Formats: sequence, C-alpha cells, structure tokens
Amino acid sequence: MTDSDEDTIRERLMQLLSTAHAPYSEFRVAAAVVDENYRAHFGVNVENQSLPVGTCAEQGAISALRVAGGKRIKKLYLLSEPNVEALPCGACRQRLSELGDANTQIITFKKNGDSSVFLLGDLFPRSFRFK
Ligand code: THU
Repeated sequence: MTDSDEDTIRERLMQLLSTAHAPYSEFRVAAAVVDENYRAHFGVNVENQSLPVGTCAEQGAISALRVAGGKRIKKLYLLSEPNVEALPCGACRQRLSELGDANTQIITFKKNGDSSVFLLGDLFPRSFRFK
C-alpha cells in the first residue's frame, strides 16, 4: 500500500464517522481492515439501548472483509471522534487475533491529523486459543 492509499482510507473513515450509531457514548468509531490482497473493508460502531449488545467498528469491518472474500487481516485503521486515539478493546484484540497475526499493524488516526502505529503482537501477545 502506498501513502496515497492510506490517505484514501483516512478520507473514507472521516466520511464514515457520521454513519456510526453512537447516541449513548457519543463516541463514534470508523474502522478499516486491509486484507491479504490490499483491499480495505469498513465498519462503524453500532450501539444499542441494551448497552452490551452494541458492536464495535472492528466487528463490522471484519464481517465486511469476510463477505468480500478476504481471508486475513494485514492492517487495521481506526478513526474516532471526539479527538481521542482509539485502540481496539480487549474483545476486538481477540477478534483481530483470529484473522491477523503478530505483525498485523494497527494504525490509529486522530481527527487532528496525528497517527500512531502498533503491532497486534505487542498489544495482544497471548490470545486465547484452544486448538
Ligand atoms: N468502540 C469501537 O467501536 N472500537 C474500538 O476500538 C473502541 C470502542 C466503540 C464501542 C462503543 O460504541 C464506543 O466505542 C464507546 O466505547
């Protein structure tokens, strides 16, 4: 992927923030997961009046990746508003570990233009596995 691809993903995430459904937390998240063929798939958080039923942006993006025929997660991009660096929650780290690996990159964008890069292996070194 090139820098311009990354710019395109960031612009798309900016657009998608308005499609998040987050009336309870008022914390909107847009996610993109990039598959083994460098294709990006998107999701947003969708909250629910029954608070634990709400879904994270990563969940939607991972489902979209599979629906489009993607197999593996090479990168995750996150953008949120307000201007906070959103890292994946613990449950989403486990979800990412299923289709990603220690080298999966997690790139967080802030609305003010800041960004940081992490490796899944650093954020979640020992996932749950039973086989
Ligand atoms: N959230 C995500 O969608 N992804 C993350 O990586 C962190 C948190 C959502 C869940 C909830 O709708 C809101 O952010 C506040 O926790």
